Amino acid sequence: MKHFINLKDIPAKDLRKILVDAKNRKKKRQKLNTLEVDKGSPLEGKLLIQMFEKSSLRTRLSFYLAIKQLGGGTLTLRSNELHLGEGGETLEDTAKILSTYGDGFILRTDNDNKIENFKDYLSIPIINGLSPSSHPTQVLSDIFTIEEIKKKPISKLNITWIGDSNNVLNSLIAASVKFNFKLNIGCPKNYVPNKLVLDWVKKNKRKIHIFHNVREASINADVILSDKVISLNDKVNKKIKISQFKNFRITQKLISHAKKDCIFLHCLPRGSEVEERVFFSKQSKVWQQALNRIHVQKSILLYCFGKLR
Ligand code: CP
Ligand code: NVA
Repeated sequence: MKHFINLKDIPAKDLRKILVDAKNRKKKRQKLNTLEVDKGSPLEGKLLIQMFEKSSLRTRLSFYLAIKQLGGGTLTLRSNELHLGEGGETLEDTAKILSTYGDGFILRTDNDNKIENFKDYLSIPIINGLSPSSHPTQVLSDIFTIEEIKKKPISKLNITWIGDSNNVLNSLIAASVKFNFKLNIGCPKNYVPNKLVLDWVKKNKRKIHIFHNVREASINADVILSDKVISLNDKVNKKIKISQFKNFRITQKLISHAKKDCIFLHCLPRGSEVEERVFFSKQSKVWQQALNRIHVQKSILLYCFGKLR
């Protein structure tokens, strides 16, 4: 059994194994319908319990389909439906019950410690379905999408992030160390990545490149990624923050500084950080990116259940 909480804590060779398995499984499903089960039904009889303390469209649906396609099933809970959410039961007891009824647990929360606490009391794997510090299933799937489209290992590509230093970027930074790719970040001066994240990069003897000018960050990019300026857990003055990012929008002019065949990715949902012209352009691969979450998360589930070959 393995947990999937933060990319920085997962060995690079395991992350690569997950991507290889996802590629093979995706290829073999070309003629199958949405709910048809993969040959061998590797997670038959398994129950995945998902709990969302905040909104989700893609993560909940893609995990629903992922476990279904592996032969298992899922139950999705809102935290306020549990005694735990009302303060009427401890996390320890809740974790023990989840482990009694279920085989795996996904948690989306505003509190990173809660994931760690659940990990301590669960006897089933826990997957981070997004927390303030990271969004690991999203970013591993994005690496898959990039390699699928570019037909090259990501270590041979220039990746640029334009936007807030948030959970998705933290996971992308962790991925840049694990997969050894060049990462440029374009962000305002007062929105650079967290010191703990930068120290971890240094400790691993790697470098990321931070720019406060979007043009410089985008020169020669093979891929430009972005995300909302205001994240779900942001308790900021939204108007002020959005105005501080006014020079950090993904526009067609900006994309023209990147390589000719540069692609644009966005985890979604989107805000005003990307021009419609870019979002709906041929270079934008956001729908393929969203679809691939099913394929990669299947292999993440197999990894967590100890069934990845
Ligand atoms: N990208 C992503 O995680 O989307 P949801 O918030 O809709 O799950
Ligand atoms: N950074 C965003 C990602 C949403 C999928 C958030 O945390 O809201």
